[in-house]
Amino acid sequence: MKLLVATTNRGKLAEYCELLADIDVEWVDLQDVGLGTMEVAETEDTFAANAILKARAYCEASGLLTLADDSGLVVDALEGAPGVYSARYGAPEVTTDRGRYEKLLAALQDVPLEKRTARFKCVVALAAPDQEIVTVEGKIEGRIAFSPRGSNGFGYDPVFLLSDGRTLAELPSAEKNRISHRGNALEKAQPLLIELIKKINI
Ligand code: IMP
Repeated sequence: MKLLVATTNRGKLAEYCELLADIDVEWVDLQDVGLGTMEVAETEDTFAANAILKARAYCEASGLLTLADDSGLVVDALEGAPGVYSARYGAPEVTTDRGRYEKLLAALQDVPLEKRTARFKCVVALAAPDQEIVTVEGKIEGRIAFSPRGSNGFGYDPVFLLSDGRTLAELPSAEKNRISHRGNALEKAQPLLIELIKKINI
């Protein structure tokens, strides 16, 4: 059974490859199915609605069982920002991961550690032809550091502080995957994926 992992984000794709290694599906990405240039605008204001939008569009275009997600960083002191705008935070002036986390650090300049609470959220949506779309949500809690540390991962990882004092960018990828919002969402998605595969095969 082929599973289309509908993301063009290399960081996320790498994590999904590792996470899907244990599941009995042959995963393909958007480029493999000739949809590398098909963009689906994330026009909704919740992670779930955006994930559903993408899963539906890529499933219809490919005819394949499709996994799409929407994820981002929710910072309490910024009333939930950057949230669904995490990938576009500071755009159009800011265009790099580093630029985005530097902007975040500047926005939190005067905020003490106890008020720097934040979480990554990830909603995974699974779509299959003629089936209802299902979603699950994963999250990981932490705080925003005062300065970046570590060189693994992507996005805001260097400034996302875990309770043990390390940033997500200081974790080996396998360890990040075990505890991350994506790992958490995919763990919840596994039984639904298996159920969906059974339904399609009937
Ligand atoms: P989207 O889900 O592709 O719309 O983008 C999510 C954005 O949230 C990414 O571009 C990153 O900026 C941020 N993000 C999501 N997950 C992670 C993560 O695991 N580490 C760091 N940043 C993340």
